[in-house]
Amino acid sequence: MTAERPLKGKVAFVAGASSGIGASIARTLASAGASVALVARRKEHLASVERDVAAYEVPVLALPADLAAKDAPQDAVNAAEQALGPVDILVNNAALARTGPIHDTHPRHWRQAFHLNLDVPFLLIRAVLPGMRERGHGWIVNISSEGSLLQADWSAPYSITKRALNALTAQVDIENRHVGVRAVAVLPGWVRTDLAQDPETLGVGVEDLLDPSDIADVVLWAVTRPAAVGIGPLIPVRPVSRNAQTLANWEHYLRTLRHYDTVGGHMTDVPGLPE
Ligand SMILES: NC(=O)c1ccc[n+]([C@@H]2O[C@H](COP(=O)([O-])OP(=O)(O)OC[C@H]3O[C@@H](n4cnc5c(N)ncnc54)[C@H](OP(=O)(O)O)[C@@H]3O)[C@@H](O)[C@H]2O)c1
Repeated sequence: MTAERPLKGKVAFVAGASSGIGASIARTLASAGASVALVARRKEHLASVERDVAAYEVPVLALPADLAAKDAPQDAVNAAEQALGPVDILVNNAALARTGPIHDTHPRHWRQAFHLNLDVPFLLIRAVLPGMRERGHGWIVNISSEGSLLQADWSAPYSITKRALNALTAQVDIENRHVGVRAVAVLPGWVRTDLAQDPETLGVGVEDLLDPSDIADVVLWAVTRPAAVGIGPLIPVRPVSRNAQTLANWEHYLRTLRHYDTVGGHMTDVPGLPE
């Protein structure tokens, strides 16, 4: 390990690496010397992140996959470990931000959100944890949301899946940190990504929001703590702007999301997701 490349020789697996926060985390970990496995569905986006990561002269593997598909989490970890070696840092960033009022939430949408936002992180953790415990070193980084700490109208199932992810993180951390495997959940406030969807229309300027690299910097800080130091496990990272912070603005935002059909009174389907 060198001061400039503190993650040299480490292998990172980033679930949801094709855009936004996940792409930024992948670039940042590569800039610190880590080899990186990139997983997401959109091939061209993934290829572009792959080029950015390769520019840091570290081994990189792009794995186009729908992590919600049966066996996909274990298959992706197997492929990453075969190509790059055992995973030292798992970043669970892929998520589905579907929200609406409980009375209009179809059980199918509830299940899809819980599957991608909670089951998939669990399955990925389960795939890497035995090896990490054996080697006495590892990081599980779960990207949660500041929304998991707020009781906001129309925020479920997303906010509930992220609350559960916080609990999963704390459980993994307490069960494993004494053997060298630590877990943190980073809880972003509003960040400029596709998922943030036109905040200007709500009077929240893009300058009020964080940049994906702000979250990536915190992830890098976390995974470079000395071996004897436990942190978190919950780390909120939020804009200081009052506009981007108010619960009222967030509730307003939740009511304008494109995946909720306010006329029909139901969440819309996301193409490609299993029933
Ligand atoms: N932006 C914010 O304000 C904000 C705030 C709080 C928390 N977060 C959290 O930050 C994380 C990243 O979100 P983002 O804002 O960066 O949005 P984003 O750009 O839409 O990123 C989501 C990532 O997840 C991947 N993904 C989605 N479904 C997948 C699937 N079935 N299989 C594999 N990969 C999948 C997407 O890739 P493909 O579409 O190519 O599969 C993409 O790489 C999420 O966990 C989100 O809840 C974001």
